Amino acid sequence: MYSSLLTSLLALTTVETAVAASQCTARPPFLNKLAQDNGKLWFGTAADIPGTAEQTDTQYLKILTNNKYFGEMTPANMMKFMYTEPEQNVFNFTGGDYFLDLAEKNGLRVRCHNLVWNSQLSDWVTSRNWTAPELTAVMKNHIYNLVGHFGGRCYSWDVVNEALAGDGSFSSSIWYDTIGSEYFFLAYQFAQEAVEQTGADIKLYYNDYGIESPGVKTTAAYNLVKELQSRKIKIDGVGLESHFEVGGTPSVAAQVAAKQGYIALGVDVVVTELDVRFVQAPFYTAAGEATQAQNYYDSVASCMKVGPGCIGVTVWDFVDKYSWVPSSFPGQGGATIYNDTFQRKPAFYAIGEALTGAPCTVC
Ligand SMILES: *[C@@H]1O[C@H](CO)[C@@H](O)[C@H](O)[C@H]1NC(C)=O
Ligand SMILES: *[C@@H]1O[C@H](CO)[C@@H](O)[C@H](O)[C@H]1NC(C)=O
Ligand SMILES: *[C@@H]1O[C@H](CO)[C@@H](O)[C@H](O)[C@H]1NC(C)=O
Repeated sequence: MYSSLLTSLLALTTVETAVAASQCTARPPFLNKLAQDNGKLWFGTAADIPGTAEQTDTQYLKILTNNKYFGEMTPANMMKFMYTEPEQNVFNFTGGDYFLDLAEKNGLRVRCHNLVWNSQLSDWVTSRNWTAPELTAVMKNHIYNLVGHFGGRCYSWDVVNEALAGDGSFSSSIWYDTIGSEYFFLAYQFAQEAVEQTGADIKLYYNDYGIESPGVKTTAAYNLVKELQSRKIKIDGVGLESHFEVGGTPSVAAQVAAKQGYIALGVDVVVTELDVRFVQAPFYTAAGEATQAQNYYDSVASCMKVGPGCIGVTVWDFVDKYSWVPSSFPGQGGATIYNDTFQRKPAFYAIGEALTGAPCTVC
């Protein structure tokens, strides 16, 4: 536990304490550097660039592009369907290319996000009735063009995003309702073919929320992975979104157990969209921020505990003023690791502790 860590550290030998503390001498803790020094590929963040205030906010960009803090950035919106294929078979890669240029210039990896989802689709997709073969061709063309264009600049693609309902069945979506459950497996088949055509090593992921602890939906996600594997279709990893509420996150043990379940199937896991929101104001009390710090700690610690099969942690943007939460959950907020004026919250230091096992509150 984050709060008891200092006490337990006091019980360590002098040598062990010195080793642990030496990983955390940065002031403040450089989260990506600490993650990479401790066996992860990155500590990352989503960013909504270009076309938003983030693009020209120098204070924001200075933190985002310092790869001591972040080693991965995920496009919050720019690679989604409505932006990349606004008219049928007319592709717009401007935003995605800008995002990749920014990441590469600063030495950050990119998890490309996403190919097949029920939200943020173009009007031309949703405003008419398709036959299953027609919509399958639309899906295939979209996947081939995006994977082909961005190629090996993507560390990975979230191929299908949020396919499952809470009861473990496929959610209603234009894809499922038109094509049936085969849409899911076809999407991965098309993505695999497209990756093979690039000749690059691009990982294919399934990404969802509510699959971060054992339960019906998590079991359903395991079953999707198993079914892809039994059909010999490429699946490299599962993204656990981890959009949590302060005081309401699964325990470390539950998050470890869920992650171990995926890893036992032979796929990687990534914490892809971590944030921990207050469901009501106030967002900045000492007690609230302490609970939030513990909640962030628990997610990151679960990724550390399961070893290299959890390859990294990405937060869903890092400063409250650009968080998706207030617009998606009216009245809620305070979900990220920097407050509106870019002050690091206790959660920031708790993540440093989880990454190192050292008390970053004092370093
Ligand atoms: C392509 O996308 C960029 C970035 O979102 C946008 O600024 C531009 O207007 C788009 N171009 C067209 C032709 O829609
Ligand atoms: C799609 O089909 C349904 C049922 O036949 C019909 O009610 C609806 O108007 C159609 N929608 C469009 C956009 O054509
Ligand atoms: C951000 O944190 C600083 C330092 O703790 C504080 O002065 C400021 O009021 C905070 N901003 C908000 C919006 O809470």
